[in-house]
Amino acid sequence: MVSSGARFLWYQSKNARDLLNMGAVKRALEARAFPEDVEGQVAFVMDRFNGTITPYQNRSEITRLAERVRALAPRTLLEVGTARGGTLFLLCQAAAGDATIVSLDLPEGRNGGGFPKWKMPTYAAFAKPGQRLLFVRGNSHDPASRDKVHALMDGRPSDFIMIDGDHSYEGVKTDFELYYPLLAPGGLLALHDIRPTPYDPSIDVHRFWIEIRDRFRTEEIVETPDQPNFGIGLVHGPNAAAR
Ligand SMILES: C[S@@+](CC[C@H](N)C(=O)[O-])C[C@H]1O[C@@H](n2cnc3c(N)ncnc32)[C@H](O)[C@@H]1O
Repeated sequence: MVSSGARFLWYQSKNARDLLNMGAVKRALEARAFPEDVEGQVAFVMDRFNGTITPYQNRSEITRLAERVRALAPRTLLEVGTARGGTLFLLCQAAAGDATIVSLDLPEGRNGGGFPKWKMPTYAAFAKPGQRLLFVRGNSHDPASRDKVHALMDGRPSDFIMIDGDHSYEGVKTDFELYYPLLAPGGLLALHDIRPTPYDPSIDVHRFWIEIRDRFRTEEIVETPDQPNFGIGLVHGPNAAAR
């Protein structure tokens, strides 16, 4: 079992590494020195900067998701689970040029929850010039966080929602129940880690996914059918015909 002291040290060493690399990330973002195509952008976050902005994603799955979001061109987009910002960068680049984007994560925690405030100016540079990118530091399970997100969207529904926060069964269920009602008709909601993950009992999105996948119009983005992790579930917005 890993002690809380060891976790604290691990978290601080990660932050020290990020601090060293963050200047280069920010300069590249401000100069828009990254490719325009999805594959190139996935490589930008996954293969550079020593993992500082690498998403916690399977490469082919996040590529397919980003392409899907580009086709949708959302004007309102919510992400639950900012973390290192890798997915957020890709979602900003995929969203409409005038999109309002909100990313929600826990306030910086001793055990690695959320991200430190000093990363925010770099994350803010993920946005395209005409976009509004806003951050909420709070618990996604708190209805007050949901209300804050909704207010930041000026009361508009979300065209795209990515739920990638608390991966426990109760956690993902709570997020789905709170945020699915914000999804626009014709919109898409993505749940990450829908594949069963036997080696990590804290990840139980699969149990929730099999409960809902036939109750809604859904799709799966999964690289290989029997993989023991990752996998993205897509749920279509209200008014979409059930299968
Ligand atoms: C797997 S990471 C997100 C990865 C990110 N989407 C990516 O791939 O680039 C999960 C994040 O969810 C956050 N999280 C966990 N529980 C949460 C909660 N109840 N409210 C808000 N954020 C939460 C964690 O702090 C962590 O940063």
